[in-house]
Amino acid sequence: MTFDTASLRDPRSKGRHIKACLTQQVLYQKSTGLERFDFVSQALPEIALSQIDLSVSLAGRALSAPLMIAPMTGGDRRALVINHRLARAAQRWGLAMGVGSQRVGIEDRSRARYFELRSQAPTALLFANLGAAQLVKGWGRDEALRAVEMIHADALFIHLNPIQEAVQGGDLDFRGVADRLSRLCEALEVAGVPVFVREVGFGISEQAARQLLACGVSGIDCAGAGGTSWARVESLCADSERERLMGERFGEWGIPTSDSILNVRRVSRSLPLIACGGLTNGIELAKALALGADVGGMARSMLVKACQGEDALNRFIADTLDELRICMFGTGAATVAALRGTVVSCR
Ligand SMILES: Cc1cc2nc3c(=O)[nH]c(=O)nc-3n(C[C@H](O)[C@H](O)[C@H](O)COP(=O)(O)O)c2cc1C
Repeated sequence: MTFDTASLRDPRSKGRHIKACLTQQVLYQKSTGLERFDFVSQALPEIALSQIDLSVSLAGRALSAPLMIAPMTGGDRRALVINHRLARAAQRWGLAMGVGSQRVGIEDRSRARYFELRSQAPTALLFANLGAAQLVKGWGRDEALRAVEMIHADALFIHLNPIQEAVQGGDLDFRGVADRLSRLCEALEVAGVPVFVREVGFGISEQAARQLLACGVSGIDCAGAGGTSWARVESLCADSERERLMGERFGEWGIPTSDSILNVRRVSRSLPLIACGGLTNGIELAKALALGADVGGMARSMLVKACQGEDALNRFIADTLDELRICMFGTGAATVAALRGTVVSCR
């Protein structure tokens, strides 16, 4: 898959984010912190690897494995090609999947069709996606339901990204965000749509987790630092030298994914929790689950494979799930629930 530079000049295009993520150094230098934990290896696991059950439920739906294709894109032709590949994989493997921000599809109805992916994933758990900054500006129930309807989603993500907005000089006023989230959660509960709130990769503090719980969210994606740095991506996509510098200076901002998971779990043992941010293989996924996540999400890793082709993507998912199974075998965990708590801090 190739990228022309026209998309780089379109500030509304997700194309330049994708190009940066595929071709530039967009990763944090600091890690997810998952390497600070080791599995407690069990020499007598008393289970058969072939009997290991990866199934979980999320947002009231069954998944074949605790893995999500994290929200990335949508809204133009190239994005549609990528999303269709990802959606076919989500369907094949029984995974959850999210689309990138649908703001462009709400603001410009002609672009809504470039978010369509239900045809490729008729039964997969799909998340729609809008930004909290839009809620603060006055969007609410109607726009949220339009986003859900646009992709025939089962649930909605509202993404939080204050640092990303700040470094690119975007939406800079988050006053009243918790109140707007509470009202949306209430309105969508009536409509039967679960609202999950997610960071885009700067992590969730204990305080933020407490605020989100009070808002009545159906779940959190605590996407943390250690993988794709959204300040760094914005730096690479900046139009001005000032934005470029800002993005670079804040490139290491964020709570590592492992801490982000633990922060949420200190506040609630049971709130549905997705963990994203720097997961690149099944062992890291297993550690995120062992620390308390219900499902692990991967963005950039999935994007890279999807752009290599469907075989590469399917092989990657198969390997990831095999690695997860081996971690479960080695810790004696026959189910994903049993995997929780099987790691110890090692440094
Ligand atoms: C190309 C790209 C575009 C993204 N766009 C969105 C978006 O529109 N909305 C959102 O909630 N997250 C978005 N994300 C953030 C990811 O879902 C994820 O939280 C973050 O990249 C960290 O995960 P990773 O280290 O696996 O990439 C995007 C990620 C990538 C790689």
